[in-house]
Amino acid sequence: MTTTTAPPTLQDAMAHVSEEVDRLFDRFLAIPDDPRADLYRAMRHAAIGGGKRLRPLLVMATARMFGVADACAARAAVAVEAVHVYSLIHDDLPAMDDDDLRRGKPTVHRAFDEATAILAGDCLHALAFEVLADPATHPDPFVRAELVFDLARAAGPSGMAGGQAMDLEAEKVSFDLPTVTRLQAMKTGALIAAAVEAGAILGRVPAEGRVHLRGFARDVGLAFQIADDLLDAEGDEAAVGKALRKDEGAGKETFLSLLGADDARARSRMLVEQALEHLKSYGAEADVLRAIARYTLERDR
Ligand code: IPE
Ligand code: IPE
Ligand code: MG
Ligand code: MG
Ligand code: MG
Repeated sequence: MTTTTAPPTLQDAMAHVSEEVDRLFDRFLAIPDDPRADLYRAMRHAAIGGGKRLRPLLVMATARMFGVADACAARAAVAVEAVHVYSLIHDDLPAMDDDDLRRGKPTVHRAFDEATAILAGDCLHALAFEVLADPATHPDPFVRAELVFDLARAAGPSGMAGGQAMDLEAEKVSFDLPTVTRLQAMKTGALIAAAVEAGAILGRVPAEGRVHLRGFARDVGLAFQIADDLLDAEGDEAAVGKALRKDEGAGKETFLSLLGADDARARSRMLVEQALEHLKSYGAEADVLRAIARYTLERDR
């Protein structure tokens, strides 16, 4: 079968997803005329108008492969991004990385205060599950329950938050490569995997049909984190929009410290090749996922 229109470029897809995500956050986070106004302003500060929106793009691109309506996929995409944004707000707190800049703006605890930042994170975390459990996201309660189950697992102690705990330990003890790989797969990989999984759940892809999508997500997640480590060491702060050169100072073992820049880059190229291999049974419908995998190598922010 031939298509008459060119597959959308990654930039177009990203711009479309960013608009959708901003539109939904704007709707969900209307500022109330009561003492919670600053809490909402803090959530909007963190959630609207910034970031690469990689996870929402993964949800929407995967969902589209299986014919899911954009309106449903966008809600699941915002849920995954809400967990990501919450994780960034808390990651930047003085008790964790103590950062002043995020997405080119002051971090939430800097623009507001620490208590508001903690609560804004809490609220975005809760919002994610409220959105997923809402019948507007999918009419089938089993699909909604699976979305909630999967994102909860990815966010918790076996996923992002567990990886963050290991990351703090990494400042005190020296981890070997398998342990760093596990740490990164949890800290960064779990949410990236949940994004792809959400698209597949919405598309009612049976578990046996998700094996390659999971392999794809795992490889992309690790390649993405290697790029984060490389950017930390070599990137341009203005382009990245956050403080860099932090990992080495913190004495943390990362892919970069363990492998060196050349081997880290080679590993990330291999992971992307492997990710593309996982998509070989798909046709043009997986082109956006392919472009995302390649983008993890090229990104400068
Ligand atoms: C940063 O994530 C933190 C990691 C998990 C590596 P992103 O690089 O996706 O940050 P944004 O969403 O574009 O700001
Ligand atoms: C944080 O990892 C990943 C999260 C789960 C938030 P980093 O601490 O390396 O992320 P950046 O570099 O601050 O974005
Ligand atoms: Mg951190
Ligand atoms: Mg950090
Ligand atoms: Mg980092």
